[in-house]
Amino acid sequence: MDTTQIRSKFAELYGEPGILFTSPGRINLIGEHTDYNGAFVFPGAVDKAMVAEIRLSGTDRVRAYALDLGESAEFGLREEDAPEQSWARYIFGVCREIQKRGGKIGGFDTVFAGDVPLGAGMSSSAALESTFAFALNDLYHLGIEKMELAKIGQATEHNYIGVKCGIMDQFASVFGQAGKLIRLDCKSMEYEYHPFDPKGYRLLLVDSVVKHELASSAYNKRRESCEAAVAAIAKRHPEVKFLRDASFAMLDEVKAEISEEDYKRASYVIGEVDRVLAVCEALDKGDYETVGQKMYETHHGMSKLYEVSCEELDFLNDLAKELGVTGSRVMGGGFGGCTINLIKDELYDRFVAEAKSRYEAKYGRTPKFYDVVISDGSRRL
Ligand code: GLA
Repeated sequence: MDTTQIRSKFAELYGEPGILFTSPGRINLIGEHTDYNGAFVFPGAVDKAMVAEIRLSGTDRVRAYALDLGESAEFGLREEDAPEQSWARYIFGVCREIQKRGGKIGGFDTVFAGDVPLGAGMSSSAALESTFAFALNDLYHLGIEKMELAKIGQATEHNYIGVKCGIMDQFASVFGQAGKLIRLDCKSMEYEYHPFDPKGYRLLLVDSVVKHELASSAYNKRRESCEAAVAAIAKRHPEVKFLRDASFAMLDEVKAEISEEDYKRASYVIGEVDRVLAVCEALDKGDYETVGQKMYETHHGMSKLYEVSCEELDFLNDLAKELGVTGSRVMGGGFGGCTINLIKDELYDRFVAEAKSRYEAKYGRTPKFYDVVISDGSRRL
């Protein structure tokens, strides 16, 4: 990303230059809504990121400027100092979560901007959190481990934004490595890097341009459904702490004790846990047809059981299938945003052209296309 504008705005507002930090957005090949169920996810960082210039000010106040919005905010670092603007609450939340962990920080000046599309399911908010968590850890020499930086971002969502998210987005943003996807076990927090360079295929995101921003209560409700199913199963099987530990047979035992909705939600998750493992196995064999097949199955589950798709995303998924795309599904939390598509090189141009014209004809809006470039995580520039 070009940082000239950040640099010049920073100079205009605060004089002396600061240091640039960046953290990326993410994709996820498969394993959706599995993170808070203690199971596997398979994300990677992308080449779209947040960038912030930061300079410690020696005061106890933060002065922040959001370049993309042309808005500024100023706030202190005590709990009662929470700013009004939602974008500033992300920065404030990160500061507070660092302090809660004993990190001694003071005020700073910052200008930030990003090219992670907002509301597209590519984790622009995690990119923002990770940028500030990483930067403050670096500038104040706090010595916080990378995994804890990711948890600081997640706790910011929980405590200052109200989204009870899992760890995937912040993890991918902090830990990303160019050319590699990361399989994370969200129960043990063990992870493995997997080089991802499928010869003859590409990953393409199709952004429905339906924003998913108002989805936080629906997201939290999904999580509650999973917890209700676990609570019922755990009465008979106390070893079950997460849906990851449960089987379809266990879920069926409690079918009459939970709502129909909770049953559907849980059955999606149990199926998704298996699909991630099947995809890992297929990737090891270079079997991209199976990978793609599992992606379609995930879409079906997210649409019909978890009910986090929407008409536009279902349309894009159907279109991908009709045109012979190897795999396609709604990516991220859902309720709008992107589909992720595994597509053969030779089909790429035709698919983009058809998806664009047919989506426009049906919805009167132009979808956006992003080639996935798997990139590095949080860093100083
Ligand atoms: C959002 C959350 C993640 C994860 C995904 C769905 O991106 O922030 O923790 O639950 O949805 O996989």
